[in-house]
Amino acid sequence: MSVKVIVGTQWGDEGKGKITDILAEKMDYVVRYQGGNNAGHTVVVGDKTFKLHLVPSGILYDTVVSMIGNGVVIDPGVLIEEMETLKAQGVFIDHNRLRISSIAHVILPVHKAIDSQQEALRREQKIGTTGRGIGPCYTDKVARLGVRMMDLLSKDRLAKRLQKHPNMRPDDVESVIETYAGYGDVLRPFVTDTSLEINRAIARGKRIIMEGAQGTMLDVDHGTYPFVTSSNPISGAACIGAGVGPHKIDQVIGVTKAYCTRVGEGPFPTEEFGEINDYLRTKGCEFGTTTARPRRCGWLDLVVLRYAVRINGITEICLTKLDVLDELKTIRVCTAYQTPEGTVDEFPLDLETFSEAKPIYDELPGWCEDISQVTHFEKLPLNAKNYIKYISNILGVRISLVSVGSKRLQTIHLLTH
Ligand code: GDP
Ligand code: IMO
Ligand code: MG
Repeated sequence: MSVKVIVGTQWGDEGKGKITDILAEKMDYVVRYQGGNNAGHTVVVGDKTFKLHLVPSGILYDTVVSMIGNGVVIDPGVLIEEMETLKAQGVFIDHNRLRISSIAHVILPVHKAIDSQQEALRREQKIGTTGRGIGPCYTDKVARLGVRMMDLLSKDRLAKRLQKHPNMRPDDVESVIETYAGYGDVLRPFVTDTSLEINRAIARGKRIIMEGAQGTMLDVDHGTYPFVTSSNPISGAACIGAGVGPHKIDQVIGVTKAYCTRVGEGPFPTEEFGEINDYLRTKGCEFGTTTARPRRCGWLDLVVLRYAVRINGITEICLTKLDVLDELKTIRVCTAYQTPEGTVDEFPLDLETFSEAKPIYDELPGWCEDISQVTHFEKLPLNAKNYIKYISNILGVRISLVSVGSKRLQTIHLLTH
């Protein structure tokens, strides 16, 4: 049995897509368990670049079945477009390769409208959402007003759900029924009981990755609330979002960027504003895959990572984008915060304390060498090896893979999966 959960340990965009793609080579199933098309994963294979938002990052292998679990919120128009784009790029997609949970909730036009209205009302308190209707869709799910994928398969049932929906403008109902029933017709062959299939696959000893979107610090419970997304990216949510029991999971892989980024609003203690921010943004191409917004950049934060290891029960770390640090003479790493309550090395749950936290840094020497073609740990410069060991030692978690570029070959395996 092999069921691994892949989870972002920072504020998203850690390179989960690349890591899932690398590990998926030896997998039978990749299951996405939460989020929606707020996610954007860039996966580079040879000279082709794939942008994935809803389709799991296993789709690029013929041998992998990709599943969109019940915990995901689906904008069916966006999903169909993404499938078409992938097909145009030469990816074969049929109902044997892509499966969609019949009980996943559906993003409606009204959710997108509410998302932007709420952002406008929040003014200086705005979250900087992706504007994809994610929050309002999850709100309807919890309020028991949601429309689910199975509802799209019957026009009558869809009409009943939408006519009773308090947020729908009566004038819009007919056109939404038409459009969404049309999406249902296209997606019908893919819609299924994904939990049943996953559990059968586990019973047959198949190898499975459960893929999270976003990151631990954007988790609605454990992140920097209210500057979070409206779902639970953390590993525990994989059970709910895929319909699998906790005892079935045997590994939790945290994906960690060698520095730190954040998109949207909210506190970020190790954020840099001058030269270092410009350097990381340019060298790391730190612009959002979904919204093309420039990402805020700063140093690695071990307080955040210590928390992520604890909250997710991380058993190993994949360290990404180490090559981005290549030209720095000195690399800073935050080990603790100075706060009004004193020095802390555990993440303070009070957002006010976190907002005022001043990072306490260790300084490590850089390696000032191009590592983007290195494929073996022994071949890395000494200071790069030391940086990896330093992180692993402080967190008490082994680092199983180091990524030194966006391509598949730009990967150093420290342990076999
Ligand atoms: P995700 O949302 O966690 O899947 O991450 P994104 O795909 O949004 O952002 C990560 C970006 O970094 C993508 O453009 C990747 O192609 C790129 N990337 C991934 N790993 C590496 C790496 O090791 N080095 C460099 N330079 N780029 C990487
Ligand atoms: P991946 O999967 C980075 C951020 C938004 C905003 C907050 C809430 O690519 O790592 P939402 O639209 O979810 O209500 O926005 O969450 N956000 C992300 N930031 N990567 C993501 O996904 C994100 N998905 C949402 O910028 O601050
Ligand atoms: Mg991303």
